[in-house]
Amino acid sequence: MNHRLANKRALVTGGSRGIGAAIVRRLAGEGAHVALTYVSNPAKADETVQAARAFGVKALAVQADSADAAAVVAAVEKTVSELGCIDILVNSAGIAVIAPLDDYRLEDLDHTLAVNVRAVFVATQAAVKHMQPGGRIINIGSCNAERMPFAGGGVYAMSKAALVGLVKGLARDLGPRGITINNVQPGPVDTDMNPATSDFAKMLIQLMALPRYGTGDEIASLVAYLASSEAGYVTGASLTIDGGFTA
Ligand SMILES: NC(=O)c1ccc[n+]([C@@H]2O[C@H](COP(=O)([O-])OP(=O)(O)OC[C@H]3O[C@@H](n4cnc5c(N)ncnc54)[C@H](OP(=O)(O)O)[C@@H]3O)[C@@H](O)[C@H]2O)c1
Repeated sequence: MNHRLANKRALVTGGSRGIGAAIVRRLAGEGAHVALTYVSNPAKADETVQAARAFGVKALAVQADSADAAAVVAAVEKTVSELGCIDILVNSAGIAVIAPLDDYRLEDLDHTLAVNVRAVFVATQAAVKHMQPGGRIINIGSCNAERMPFAGGGVYAMSKAALVGLVKGLARDLGPRGITINNVQPGPVDTDMNPATSDFAKMLIQLMALPRYGTGDEIASLVAYLASSEAGYVTGASLTIDGGFTA
């Protein structure tokens, strides 16, 4: 693996499992020191920290519920105190509560917006205070911001569509500071959130140009590009990586 990110300092929210963990491993593999947040599974967080350290970089896990704004700010501050600075913020923590409209609970709507949207703003606001020109913010959105082909996913789609607008607006705040902010929109990826072996997966695959689920490593590859100096002219963008789900 190349070392495009040698000695950069990164924080990946929701980096203990799934897509976030693949991003942690990829950034570490490219030479970045990495902090990750998790909420409920310290064993998985530790496993991912060990995998990152195997690349010879510093790595740490911080328990921080993205629904709790103070915890998110504290995780950014912990990253800065442990790693010395922050160059790359990846907002990957996310939840999906899928339920029919008639049964959808308002507390699930509020929790989804707190984790998938508000935490992204809070972490970004806290991180950019410490970022130098060349800093990178990368959010993990979803192809469902553009296409939601089944019932019950309206709130999730809304939360991910919000990130499309957020990166456009914040790109204007951050451009003069030499910091880019972008949104990566995966299609179906095989994780605990969306296992490739379910009946739901069989339905989704029929909607895709490439008839398979993606992997966390495929998403991490695009994130690593955006984190690198090669992507210095990309900002305010929502880049879809979805096997043709939205084609
Ligand atoms: N999988 C897909 O098909 C897919 C497609 C498009 C977009 N996405 C997006 O990609 C991101 C990652 O999804 P995934 O499939 O990898 O999910 P996942 O397998 O459920 O993993 C979620 C990760 O986020 C952490 N997390 C969950 N809630 C959190 C909270 N309140 N505060 C802090 N961390 C929290 C989890 O930590 P714990 O281990 O402690 O629970 C875990 O590390 C999400 O934003 C999701 O919406 C996923």
